[in-house]
Amino acid sequence: MRAAVAVAQSMEDPLSGLSLREIPDPEEKPGWTRLRVRSASLNPHDVWTLRGVGHPAERIPMVLGCDGAGVTDAGDEVVIHPVLGDPNRGGGDVTLDPGRALLSETVNGSLADFVLVPDACVVPKPTWLSFDDAATLGIVWGTAYRMLFTRARLKAGDRVLVQGASGGVGSAAISLARAAGARVFATARTEAKRAFALEAGAHETFENGVRLPERVDIVVDTVGEATWAHSLRSLQPGGVIVTCGATTGNMPPAELNRIFYQQLSVIGSTGSTRAEFEALLRLLEASGVRPHVDSVVPLDDIASGFQRLIDGDVRGKLVVRVS
Ligand SMILES: NC(=O)c1ccc[n+]([C@@H]2O[C@H](COP(=O)([O-])OP(=O)(O)OC[C@H]3O[C@@H](n4cnc5c(N)ncnc54)[C@H](OP(=O)(O)O)[C@@H]3O)[C@@H](O)[C@H]2O)c1
Repeated sequence: MRAAVAVAQSMEDPLSGLSLREIPDPEEKPGWTRLRVRSASLNPHDVWTLRGVGHPAERIPMVLGCDGAGVTDAGDEVVIHPVLGDPNRGGGDVTLDPGRALLSETVNGSLADFVLVPDACVVPKPTWLSFDDAATLGIVWGTAYRMLFTRARLKAGDRVLVQGASGGVGSAAISLARAAGARVFATARTEAKRAFALEAGAHETFENGVRLPERVDIVVDTVGEATWAHSLRSLQPGGVIVTCGATTGNMPPAELNRIFYQQLSVIGSTGSTRAEFEALLRLLEASGVRPHVDSVVPLDDIASGFQRLIDGDVRGKLVVRVS
């Protein structure tokens, strides 16, 4: 089968370690389901793997791809919930299992003609969702759902600021918060990206760092150093900042005086449980919200998709059509 494989790691030139090559089809094994991948999507996680961040060199080569949707050998149309682990070791929450992993961290990922995933990660694909749309959901939409509803405990009427509005997590968070009855502010670096944020559901958009018309209850920040100080300043006393990533760096000043004096909560969030992922699907169906697909590239053209992701030139998600 064809597969997009990380064969080497380079911080400066991540695409030098990407190889589209023929590898053997995965063999079936008990407790695992084999899918013919119809669509997958690209995530910064794949680029971190190619850069050598968070993915040890001894786990190379590895087929990339955390997200996907396809058809099982039995003919069922399914979408992948990509968090692999044992909920029992996480007190009932797979994301709290110390040994959890994302698809493509410990086993081959979805950017290939076939992928083998644990049975527990296979979720029926709703008929109202296309394969391309379904392939965007596992990582960023699942993560945004958990950030807002489980971790930050969003309520209807809350005011929410989303930093990095055009990103995968950012644009999903905008749409989900709006669907849940929040007032949504968003920041993005260009006029075109701010226009996209409005289409995704933001009520108002701003350039990065601009003072908001009012303070907010929740900030969704995946950007890190470039936005953190603004995130802290934008919260009302008692507010919550929820983070799942640090694209621009993970060491902003802590500003402890602001955190204790304003009684702010800084909350981390990673991935989603299967129950959260299924709830996300129900929320999309009930609200009519649909994923934001920037464009679709064929698997054979995957390097150009990764280049756009690295350049920051994406609104929502880049989908890879595999078959
Ligand atoms: N822990 C988890 O489970 C989890 C899950 C998903 C993602 N993540 C992490 O979360 C981060 C976001 O993921 P994603 O898929 O949403 O990535 P993405 O689609 O690449 O979006 C990243 C966003 O960051 C913003 N950004 C980048 N550089 C910036 C700068 N210099 N100044 C201001 N904003 C900047 C951009 O916002 P604008 O272009 O709109 O300005 C961009 O849209 C990544 O680091 C990823 O690894 C973690």
